[in-house]
Amino acid sequence: MEFKRNILITGGAGFIGSHVVRLFVNKYPEYHIINLDKLTYAGNLANLTDIEEMPNYTFVRADICDFDKMMELFKTFSIDGVIHLAAESHVDRSIKDPLTFAQTNVMGTLSLLQAAKLSWADSFEGKRFYHISTDEVYGALHFDGTFFTETTKYNPHSPYSASKAGSDHFVRAFHDTYGLPTVVTNCSNNYGPYQFPEKLIPLFINNIRHGKPLPVYGKGENVRDWLYVVDHARAIDVIFHEGKIADTYNIGGFNEWKNIDLIKVIIKTVDRLLGNAEGTSEKLITYVTDRAGHDLRYAIDSTKLKNELGWEPSLQFEEGIEKTVRWYLDNQEWMDNITSGEYEKYYESMYTDR
Ligand code: NAD
Ligand code: TYD
Repeated sequence: MEFKRNILITGGAGFIGSHVVRLFVNKYPEYHIINLDKLTYAGNLANLTDIEEMPNYTFVRADICDFDKMMELFKTFSIDGVIHLAAESHVDRSIKDPLTFAQTNVMGTLSLLQAAKLSWADSFEGKRFYHISTDEVYGALHFDGTFFTETTKYNPHSPYSASKAGSDHFVRAFHDTYGLPTVVTNCSNNYGPYQFPEKLIPLFINNIRHGKPLPVYGKGENVRDWLYVVDHARAIDVIFHEGKIADTYNIGGFNEWKNIDLIKVIIKTVDRLLGNAEGTSEKLITYVTDRAGHDLRYAIDSTKLKNELGWEPSLQFEEGIEKTVRWYLDNQEWMDNITSGEYEKYYESMYTDR
C-alpha cells in the first residue's frame, strides 16, 4: 500500500509517545506510522494494544544509538518525517546513572539526526525532524510570577535536563549547519494514562491504593506546571504539520501546582473513587530527603503557540485529574504487570540508597 507520508515516531511505547502514536494512527490512515522503541524498562507495548493491528502501523524494536540500524530504517520505510520522543526521562534515575542519560539522550539523538541528514541528502523538501524536549532545560524559577519563554536562557541542573539540553543544541546545530528542517518543543510536566509509576502522579495513585507511604521530597513546596498528555499529543500534531522550520515552541497549560497541594487533590480523588472517607489516606504522606538539585519551580508561557498556531489545552485540570485517577483504578492489571518483579526491587533501592 502506498502511503502519503512515512513517519518515524521514536519512543512510541513510552508514556507520551504511545499517545502520539495512537493519535496519528487513528487520525491519519493515509500515513504509515513506524514506532521505533528499544523497550527499556519504560517501554511497554501494552500501552498500544488498541491500535497494534491497524494497517498503517508498524512496530520496530531498535536502539536509536544504533546508527547503522537507523540508516537501514530510513531506507526501508522511506521515512520523510521524524517525531523524536525516545529518551531516558526520569530525573531520579539520571542522578544515579548519568552516563546512560548522556548516551541515549545526546548520542541517540545525534545518531538519528545524522541518519536523517544522510538519508535526506538529495532534498530536504517536504522533510521534517521534530524533537520533543522539556521545560527542565531552562532550569528553575523562583516564586516571582515569571515564566519560561522560548527565549529563556538554558540553565539545566539535573543530568536529565543537561542531557536534554545537549540534544536540543544538536538539533538546532543540524539546522544551522546543514539546513536540516528541524523544529523543537519544550513542554511542561505531563500527566494522564500509561505513565510509568515512578513519576509522581501514577506512583502516588498506586501507593494510595495499596496503603503504602507517599514519599514527598523535601517540604513538598516545589511547583510543577501540569498538562494532560492528550493535549500535549494534540500540540505535537499541530506543530508537526504547521510549526515553522527552525523554530521553538513552548507547550504548557498555565497550570501550576505546589507538590503538596497536588498530592492532596490526588488523595482526595482516590479516596472518593475508592469509597473511603475524605482524608483517609492523608496519613500516608511521608516527608523524605529532598532530591539532589531539586528545581524549585517550573512554569511555561505557551502564548506563542496559542497566538501563532491556535493551540490551547482542551481539558481543565480538575477534569484531567479525575479522568487520570479513574483510568489507573480501572486499569489495575496494567499497573500490577509493571509493579511486580524487577520494578519492585528497583523501586525499593531508590529509597534505601538515597
Ligand atoms: P518514557 O520514559 O515514558 O518513554 C520513553 C520511551 O523511550 C520508552 O518507550 C523507552 O523504551 C524508549 N527508549 C529509551 N531509550 C531508547 C533508545 N535508546 N532507543 C529507542 N527507544 C528508547 O518518557 P515520556 O515521559 O513519554 O517522555 C517522552 C519524551 O518527552 C522524552 O523525550 C521526554 O524528555 C519528553 N518530555 C517528557 C515530559 C513528561 O512530563 N513526561 C515533559 C516534557 C517532555
Ligand atoms: P516527577 O514526576 O519525577 O517529575 P519531574 O521531576 O520531571 O518534575 O516529579 C514531580 C515532582 O514531584 C518533583 O518536584 C519531584 C516530586 N516527587 C516527590 O515529591 N516524590 C516522589 O516520589 C516523586 C517521584 C516526585
